[in-house]
Amino acid sequence: MCGIVGYIGDQKASDVIIKGLKRLEYRGYDSAGIATLNGKLLIKKSVGKVAALEENLTNSALDGNAGIGHTRWATHGEPNDVNAHPHTAQHKKFALVHNGIIENYDVLKKQLEQKGHSFATQTDTEVLAHLIEEIHESETMDFEKAVQLALNQVQGTFGIAVVHQDYPDMLIAARRGSPLLIGINGSEHFIASDASPIIEFTNKVVYLDDDEMAIIRNDSYEVKTIKDVPLTKSVHELAMSLEQIEKGGYEHFMLKEIYEQPQTIADCMRGRLMVDENRIQLGGIEAVVDKITNANRLIIAACGTSWHAALVGEYMFEYLAKKRVEVEYASEFRYQDPLVDENDVLLVISQSGETADTLAALREAKKRGATVIGICNVVGSTIARETDAGVYTHAGPEIGVASTKAFTAQVVVLAMMALQIGLRKGTIDEEQMRELIRHLDEVPEKVDQILNNQDNIKELSKLFTYAPNFLYLGRSYNFPVALEGALKLKEISYIHAEGYPAAEMKHGPIALIDQHMPVVVIAATDHTNEKMVSNIEEVRARKGRIISITNSNNGDVNRLSEFSITIPHTHDCFSPLLTVIPLQLIAYYIAVNRQCDVDKPRNLAKSVTVE
Ligand code: M6R
Repeated sequence: MCGIVGYIGDQKASDVIIKGLKRLEYRGYDSAGIATLNGKLLIKKSVGKVAALEENLTNSALDGNAGIGHTRWATHGEPNDVNAHPHTAQHKKFALVHNGIIENYDVLKKQLEQKGHSFATQTDTEVLAHLIEEIHESETMDFEKAVQLALNQVQGTFGIAVVHQDYPDMLIAARRGSPLLIGINGSEHFIASDASPIIEFTNKVVYLDDDEMAIIRNDSYEVKTIKDVPLTKSVHELAMSLEQIEKGGYEHFMLKEIYEQPQTIADCMRGRLMVDENRIQLGGIEAVVDKITNANRLIIAACGTSWHAALVGEYMFEYLAKKRVEVEYASEFRYQDPLVDENDVLLVISQSGETADTLAALREAKKRGATVIGICNVVGSTIARETDAGVYTHAGPEIGVASTKAFTAQVVVLAMMALQIGLRKGTIDEEQMRELIRHLDEVPEKVDQILNNQDNIKELSKLFTYAPNFLYLGRSYNFPVALEGALKLKEISYIHAEGYPAAEMKHGPIALIDQHMPVVVIAATDHTNEKMVSNIEEVRARKGRIISITNSNNGDVNRLSEFSITIPHTHDCFSPLLTVIPLQLIAYYIAVNRQCDVDKPRNLAKSVTVE
């Protein structure tokens, strides 16, 4: 949520920062701003996307070799030029960009107002800027020290970058709860919310941890805690490439990411799904696999699409490994006073590895003694670093705000975990394992078949582009897919959509069905098929418009549907990996037809780092 870029080196800082902000735009895009140092502090801000800021800069370029920039997802104060970051204080000598929420900003603001400060914006961030100025000027404190002391008075979360015109060779960065890293490239240094803005310059990074700050100059950096304890940090090498974060000829990142799935699913299984040896090898959880096998319960906590993957995981673990699983909304977990102890394992799932609610659930369970494991996509992310063990999804950077390839990769990891535990527990025998592994191994090829045969999806998307509502129904493994299909559609096309377990329809939602209601039924030929056919009949009897996702040999479903999208057959457990693909495409094409900003839907951000 909100993207930060900082630069100090030989290049023109504004060029590096604008380019970087564009790469970070998926984190927020309601306004953007930049501050550089060129003898004095220069600031430009614009409401809207980074392109608007760039346009603004063409009229009056910002020179200087040091600067900071920000792309915003508003928390406090509506999105406009004034509330856009960077923020300054009374004397406008320094500028600050911030990701996170200063929870005690109101108290601090009142104290500062009593000391004569007046505020120009409605943001919590401006309060932090004034607090730094107050400490720096009234206590004639070193600027770096003033930042440090101010941060100690702040409650809440922050990732910040600061520049001061009297210290032209210095950037300050600090973090609590909002990710920040430092990029190192000889005589130039970068600050960034994640690696995407800096990967074209360097693959060497230092991750800041909570309550750490960095003083960064052209040729050096030092890291310390905000309590002033010096630290020696490891330099990590990023495996990411520039190509992975570019559109590569696709109109949108979302479409590129949908099409990448045969590859990302295969990447996720590589070296882990040992077909010849008939076993699964997940190195990242080797040390805790006994713990997972013997745990009283496996609790899975996640948000959004990752939560839907967790629900699929519940079905898999219970069927394949006979393991008791509870799935929790990460955002609710800590408010339940959860009954979790050292006999439980908490599995958190997060594409970004930075979702504040998921991180809070992780910390809550850890505090209560549970073993905490993770499934993350972003290598080196906070969740990946704070879990006791975990498995990366290896799906590559996901830029589109609507999650697609991360979902399928998460489901693949869950499937592999469930198979591994099932084999250990003896709930699957060698023969069943062989069969299941074969099916899983064939998934990338089958996803490819769906993607190569989707003209009818484009066509039917045209017909339903202006439908005001959609209903998605599924059972068993495909109930979470119904939720996911509805989420995809609503977040990128702004059409109201609901996902339900198909049998729940008759307990209320059926009242919504008439000749205008498209009903997407996920009816792969599985053990629920007969019951799904009955549900489809019920929708038909009320003139609902049935779009089914099914197999070609599913005669009844095909006959009863106005539109059928056929997918290859697989084992019931793995069908979400196939059924979700047409749903991603339906949402995508409808959103494109409605001229929505597919990769940057309104009000959303890719990485939700506020609670
Ligand atoms: O990075 P995470 O997986 O923790 O993110 C969780 C949700 O914010 C995310 O899945 C969100 O729901 C997506 N926009 C869904 O497409």
